[in-house]
Amino acid sequence: MLKIVVMVSGGGTNLQAIMDAIAAGKITNTEIAGVISNKKDAFALERAAKAGIPAQCVSVKDFATRDEFNEALLAAVDSYQPDLVVLAGFLVILPEMLVKNYKNRMINIHPSLIPSFCGAGFYGLRVHEEVLARGNKVTGATVHFVDEGCDSGPILLQKAVEVKYGDTPEVLQRRVMEEAEWNILPQAIDLIANGKVMFEDGHAWVKE
Ligand code: GAR
Repeated sequence: MLKIVVMVSGGGTNLQAIMDAIAAGKITNTEIAGVISNKKDAFALERAAKAGIPAQCVSVKDFATRDEFNEALLAAVDSYQPDLVVLAGFLVILPEMLVKNYKNRMINIHPSLIPSFCGAGFYGLRVHEEVLARGNKVTGATVHFVDEGCDSGPILLQKAVEVKYGDTPEVLQRRVMEEAEWNILPQAIDLIANGKVMFEDGHAWVKE
């Protein structure tokens, strides 16, 4: 059984997609051990509570220094002894130790086709604003393993999504979530839980 911790900052629709996929048997061999949010009012926390999943908030506002926050965040993750950490809209710069300790055991969902529209400053709605500003006709989402860089770790899954005439950032965000994120994030967890992911030369691949 793959024990996962899901880290969130906001609405938690990706968390919901993971919970629904487990309930529907689309993700097997997996249990959510805990949910961690950096925001007290994140709706994701309510989703976790409703599903009876242990959830907690670790907010930078509750600590005197960034180091203390980092330590508390690491301790919170470790307390669940997870096999996999899933960043599902967790919009916080991660402590170095967390990344190091969970190398190849932490994935992130990013709302674009990496390496486009990623890196510092590209998160949430801002990604879709930039896609529309550039006039791209295709965008999408990426699940990747997390390394020391920003959105730079081994890519596991990607899915393309069409940009349509008249899209607003909100409309495009919703389409990317519905057509890509809510599918490839659960799929990635299921692949990992069932031993179907391998690493070679710094890249991640799905075993045939
Ligand atoms: C999602 O679109 C996710 O891809 C994005 O934040 C949103 C969270 O939504 N993550 C990033 O931008 C990370 N760089 P949710 O809370 O409803 O799952």
